[in-house]
Amino acid sequence: MSSKTAFAFGAGFRSLTQETESPLPLPVRGALPAWLTGTLLRTGPSKFEVGERTYNHWFDGLAMLHRFAFGDGQVTYSSCFLQSNAFTAAMETGKISYGEFATDPCRTLFGRVAAIFDPKLTANCNVNVSDFGGEIVALTETTLPMRFAPDTLETLGVFGYAPPLAGQVSNAHPHYDVARKRHYSYMVAFGMESRYLLFSIGDDGAQAQVAELPVDRPAYMHSFAMSENYLALVEFPLTVSALELKFSGKPFIRNYRWQPERGLKFTVVEKNSGRTVATALGEAAFAFHHVNAFEDGGDLVIDLIAYENAEIIDALYLAKLRANTPLDATGRLVRYRVPLVGGPVARETLASVALELPRINYKAHAGKPYRYVWGTGIEVKGDFLDSILKVDIETGTVARWYEPGLYPGEPVFVPAPSAQAEDEGVLLSVVLDVVKDRSFLLVLDARTLEEKARAEAPHAIPFHFHGNYFATIPGETSR
Ligand code: CO
Repeated sequence: MSSKTAFAFGAGFRSLTQETESPLPLPVRGALPAWLTGTLLRTGPSKFEVGERTYNHWFDGLAMLHRFAFGDGQVTYSSCFLQSNAFTAAMETGKISYGEFATDPCRTLFGRVAAIFDPKLTANCNVNVSDFGGEIVALTETTLPMRFAPDTLETLGVFGYAPPLAGQVSNAHPHYDVARKRHYSYMVAFGMESRYLLFSIGDDGAQAQVAELPVDRPAYMHSFAMSENYLALVEFPLTVSALELKFSGKPFIRNYRWQPERGLKFTVVEKNSGRTVATALGEAAFAFHHVNAFEDGGDLVIDLIAYENAEIIDALYLAKLRANTPLDATGRLVRYRVPLVGGPVARETLASVALELPRINYKAHAGKPYRYVWGTGIEVKGDFLDSILKVDIETGTVARWYEPGLYPGEPVFVPAPSAQAEDEGVLLSVVLDVVKDRSFLLVLDARTLEEKARAEAPHAIPFHFHGNYFATIPGETSR
């Protein structure tokens, strides 16, 4: 096989400012499954410049919502900037007015106290889309999810947390427990004594605190684990002091310090009682994404995409990405076994391939034993995420979809109606063709990774993070 080379993937980090207000029918090559009649809602950074300034990091850009609506073998596309406090202030003042992950607002607007403690907490929800209490929300890593209309993408306002839920930082990967009909998540309340607050939101909108865990130096965690009976925090040794965060005058993530000697700290909390049933320590590692977790005998099994350290965060600064800097840090699918009765944590690498943006058959297997993980991979060494992988955990085999010059985003698994097998369904991925400078929605058979269809968007869509497929929109019909 001839050697493969990376393309100019930096094109995926260029701003897109054009909105598509009315749903635009996209030309389809191939055939969309007739049963695919729902909506894929995604969010991601889309505008990286405000006035004379450029945001520093991929995670900072102003959020655009993207909607792919399926029906009758067709698909339409629409998009709209999320009208968050950060976006509207940027438009009105021509200045970066809110602090983001790795960018501070203009000094004159801001003073010394970090934006995270100010009333100026950003609501630039560019990470994920979920449905909280029957409402569609966009999420970022602050405690200000934004509600929006799933049909028009109109921004509706901040999703309000009820007391006693109050904090500054949260995560954009809530879990959904089908049996309990509740979402679970956590937030971090920084203060003289900082705390993790684990909470749930029912489909009826009712909010409840599950547990409150005091913490000396909160860790940067992008997601967490859920099994049938437990929630688990895995604290990576990238931690911060609340005082430093408040007074250092540095952007949010730059206050966090990598201290591998702290190791990896597992805390397992029972959903029903809120009780901490186990804590354990492992060797230092970093991750953005948990994949799944389940109970197995007396163990809690936790699968995540592990990195040796947190250098991946530095690799994702815009200036590097836009310059096509080879990506060296890669994550691996790793399994931890945490004994609930105490004892050492076992660690095992499940697949020795680079993997990110992992998805599973969430509806049927979240919190339960499972076999398949889909995600984006790196086919060409040093390249940005350039392929879609399917990992069979049982056999250790890895299947690939790769075409030169194409950069696929997160592959969202959609089960076929009345599916019997775990992998019976399709994957939906927004792919950037850097040669044509256009993006398209790719539909793959989730079992074989064979292409079923692609539908070309009117322009390139910048690389983004997450979204979800809604077979029905909450509130429109019953779940
Ligand atoms: Co994420």
